[in-house]
Amino acid sequence: MSRFMSNRFAGLKSYTPGEQPQDRTYVKLNTNESPFPPAPEVIAAVNAAEVGKLNLYPDPECRVLKEKLALRYELKPENVFISNGSDDILNFAFMAFCDKDRPVAFPSISYGFYPVYAQLHGLDAKSIPLREGFRLEPEDYLNLNHNIVIANPNAPSGRVISVEDIRRILESNLNHVVVVDEAYVDFGAESCYRLIEEYENLLVCMTFSKSRSMAGGRLGFALGSAALIADLETIKFSTNPYSINRLTMTAAIAAIEHDDYYQVCCQKIMENRAYTVERLDKLGFETIPSLANFIFTRCPGMEGGALCAALRERGVLVRHWDKPEISDYLRITIGSREQMDTLLDAVRDILKGA
Ligand SMILES: Cc1ncc(COP(=O)(O)O)c(C=O)c1O
Repeated sequence: MSRFMSNRFAGLKSYTPGEQPQDRTYVKLNTNESPFPPAPEVIAAVNAAEVGKLNLYPDPECRVLKEKLALRYELKPENVFISNGSDDILNFAFMAFCDKDRPVAFPSISYGFYPVYAQLHGLDAKSIPLREGFRLEPEDYLNLNHNIVIANPNAPSGRVISVEDIRRILESNLNHVVVVDEAYVDFGAESCYRLIEEYENLLVCMTFSKSRSMAGGRLGFALGSAALIADLETIKFSTNPYSINRLTMTAAIAAIEHDDYYQVCCQKIMENRAYTVERLDKLGFETIPSLANFIFTRCPGMEGGALCAALRERGVLVRHWDKPEISDYLRITIGSREQMDTLLDAVRDILKGA
C-alpha cells in the first residue's frame, strides 16, 4: 500500500478472482463460466454497425433492456436495475443499504466478495456459520436485525434453500434488506423473484455471466421493489451512469430475446452435472448436492490443494481455497461433456499414481 492510500482502506483485503491464465490452453473449470458461446443471434447483433456507434454514449437508463427484462420476469421496468456485472450491484447494495446502524450478515462460507464489500464500506459484518455439510439453516437468519445477503444456490457449495424459507427470512426481517444472490439460479433451482410483489425489502441479484454465456460482457441485473431499485440508481448515477457499454447492451437485448437457446444450454449443464457426480461417486469422491453450474467435492485421503495442483499439471483448472473448513474440497465448474471427460480422465490418472 502506498503512503497515499486513504486510511479508510488500510488493511483492505481485496478479492482474489479465479485465474485467467494466458500461458497455455487449459480446460477451464475454475470460474463457473459457461462452456457454450452466446446464442448465434447475439453474435450477429454485435456487428460492425453497432461497433460503428461507439462514438456515442450508451443509454444510461438502459430503457430497452429494462423493458425486455421486465417482460421476461413479469415485472415493471422500475423493478429492474442493471449494472456492470452482479458484483457491481452487490457493491452498490452494500453501499446503499448498510451503515454503522445497519450492519450486514451473511453465511460464513459463501461468495468471497461479501466480506470484501463489508470491509470496503467499513461495515460490521456478522458471519453466520453453516451447519453440517455446508447446509444453510434458515432459522439462523430469523429476526437478525441486520441486512442479510444470501447466495441461493450458495457458493461454493451449490446447496439451495427453498423459496418458502426465503419468505420466512424476509417476513422476520421486514425492516432490513434481504439480498438474494441468484447468480446460479438457472441450473435447476427456483427463483424467489415473485416475492418482490409482497416484500419491499427483497432484492434479487442475477447475472448474464453464467447461464447466459456472457461473463466477458459484464452484465448483472437486480429485481426488487421500485423503492430499492431507485436507491441503487442513485448510487449508480453518483458513480458511473454509463456502466453498461453499448456492445454489452446490444448483446444482452439479443440474449433475452433468445432465452430458449440458453434454456437448452442450462439443460445440458444439468445433465453434465449428474454425469460427472455419478462418475466421481464411483471414484470414491464425496460431493455436496448442487443445483449450480459447479460442484463442491472432495476425495477422501487426498488434500484438496494437492489434487488441484495435479489437475493443473494435466491441463485442468479447478478452484481450491486454502481455508481450514474447506481445504479438502475442490469447486469444479460443470462444462461441456468433453471437458468433463477430460477432467474425469485426469482424476483417474492421478488416483492411479496415488
Ligand atoms: C455467488 C456469486 N455472485 C455474484 C457473482 C458475480 O458475477 P458477475 O459479476 O460476473 O455477474 C459470482 C461470480 O462468480 C458469484 O459466484
